[in-house]
Amino acid sequence: MEKLVSHADDHEGTRRDFLYYATAGAGTVAAGAAVWPLVNQMNPSLDVQALSSIRVDVEGLEPGTQLTVKWLGKPVFIRRRTEEEIAAARDVDLATLPDNDSRNDNLGAAADAADENRTLDEAGEWLVQIGVCTHLGCVPLGDAGDFGGWFCPCHGSHYDTSGRIRKGPAPENLWVPLARFEDETTILLG
Ligand code: FES
Repeated sequence: MEKLVSHADDHEGTRRDFLYYATAGAGTVAAGAAVWPLVNQMNPSLDVQALSSIRVDVEGLEPGTQLTVKWLGKPVFIRRRTEEEIAAARDVDLATLPDNDSRNDNLGAAADAADENRTLDEAGEWLVQIGVCTHLGCVPLGDAGDFGGWFCPCHGSHYDTSGRIRKGPAPENLWVPLARFEDETTILLG
């Protein structure tokens, strides 16, 4: 029921409501919500399903860059990390973290904030996070801050290359939403 939306054929409603690119414009987004009115008439529970999942084509996203998509009204950062970013994220003593919870909706509540518990793939190349500061909800900036990850300028929260809070008033790591690779170049959110 879902429609693949590309730069070439996305229509106005889809563009307005479901996607924007904050950085390099690689990839395409498939928005399940594009077929919402029809699905809604057929089955109310399916409309929730359609709204709550989108496919993101990440082909062409280079290491060291990120794509931001809008999902369920929030920005989601999809970052393809460099070797250096991965190494920095994994070379951290968890005892020093202000929040040692993975904050990963794909894992149980007991998972700690090890980088391996936050990335989409085992090698740690792909990091998907809700782009909302856990302090008061601003959208952090990428490639910024004292730890080379994200920086929230609202009140000065610094997140590392794993999206974990390291300094500043934010109480929690950036949240990792339900996500998985559907195939080699497509990430399914939700
Ligand atoms: S909202 Fe991000 S530091 Fe306050």
